[in-house]
Amino acid sequence: MAAEQTLVLIKPDGLAKGIVGNIITELSDTGLILVGAKVVQVTKELAEEHYQHLKEQKFFGELIQYIMGEFHVKRVLALVYEGEDACAKVREVAGSTNPEEARPTSIRGRYGRITTKGVFENVVHSSESRKEAEREIKLWFRPFELIHTIFPTEEKTATKPELLWKGE
Ligand code: PPS
Repeated sequence: MAAEQTLVLIKPDGLAKGIVGNIITELSDTGLILVGAKVVQVTKELAEEHYQHLKEQKFFGELIQYIMGEFHVKRVLALVYEGEDACAKVREVAGSTNPEEARPTSIRGRYGRITTKGVFENVVHSSESRKEAEREIKLWFRPFELIHTIFPTEEKTATKPELLWKGE
């Protein structure tokens, strides 16, 4: 079986609480390899595309505000991990989606909470399956931002001007 990748997002509450290091240590304990990482200011467009399957949920509006950093800081850390059973391994250390149901020593069990308005602030997102991981990684990362090519690529000529370093 080919190596599997998974997208992990350390959400704005994780950055605001200063627990990025703790979370990365726990993710390292899975033995998976980090193949991509970047800090992202999440636009409404990206947030809505990422959570497109949840559009009909009553918490959708809050979920979008949360990932955009409206309740904390306007940053998330996006990570791609690779290795055998990457999705399942990260989901195990992340714990259940609902922080109140998450194993106490999991990332969400340790650091997550449910707000008085009922919004899950569960610190991390991790891809549910290999298929979802591919959709999410392609949404969050460009091919050159990963240390090697994990999905087929094609060369295209840019159709709009790109911002480059001066003198590049
Ligand atoms: S999962 O883990 O993807 O199977 O979980 P699921 O139940 O399908 O939830 C999908 C995402 O919706 C978020 N969620 C909520 N956000 C705010 N408030 C409430 N009540 C709520 N319930 C579910 C949940 O955190 C999942 O997002 P991610 O980013 O994967 O954690």
